[in-house]
Amino acid sequence: MTQPPTIAPSILAGDFSALGAECRALGEAGADWIHVDVMDGHFVPNITFGPQMCAALRPHIAGTMDVHLMIAPVDPFIPAFAKAGADVLTAHLEAGPHIHRTLQSIRAAGCKAGLAINPGTGIDAVAHLLDDIDLVCVMTVNPGFGGQSLIPAMVEKVRALRSLIQGRPIRIEIDGGVSATTARSLVTAGADILVAGSAVFQGGTGAYGRNIAALREAASGVMA
Ligand code: DX5
Ligand code: ZN
Repeated sequence: MTQPPTIAPSILAGDFSALGAECRALGEAGADWIHVDVMDGHFVPNITFGPQMCAALRPHIAGTMDVHLMIAPVDPFIPAFAKAGADVLTAHLEAGPHIHRTLQSIRAAGCKAGLAINPGTGIDAVAHLLDDIDLVCVMTVNPGFGGQSLIPAMVEKVRALRSLIQGRPIRIEIDGGVSATTARSLVTAGADILVAGSAVFQGGTGAYGRNIAALREAASGVMA
């Protein structure tokens, strides 16, 4: 790890009645990416946004729009999310039978391809997809809801994944239970993108800058 980790607040923890303003406030508070959690009530037990919401938010996001697709099927919706302005589209390994095709479709649509893996999924399958991904999203909670605690066993998975992808330009993103307390062990294990919902939004708009800085500081302690 030479670069400081990217901080990607998840707007799942934001005010749904004012998400454009939330995205702008996060940008001003120092967020690097904005993470958008798309849920369908089928692949995960919750429903959030579709491509129209992503398109509406796009003008309010100065940096990378990181779209996490927790939907099945995923393939029919890739063109719409790409058109909505997603920079990164991340699909779940568990969401369909043809993940290789899905990843190819994401790149063909002009987006960076992310591969998300649930806590119970091993990293073996990732080994066969290394040429097809720009990012691996390690779910450190079961997907569907914010505010859960990080599953400690996932830290070792991140370490194994870092060793698997060594030397390749593939980034490791952590999603779920990231906080100033857990960031350090995750970055030490090899994480370089930290998604954070509750840890960024706690305390309200006035606290976003402080919360993002606290995450950055906690994470960078290992790189000094
Ligand atoms: C969970 C989502 C996460 C979630 C993280 O399914 O993918 O992005 O918002 O929230 P926290 O940081 O509160 O665990
Ligand atoms: Zn997410």
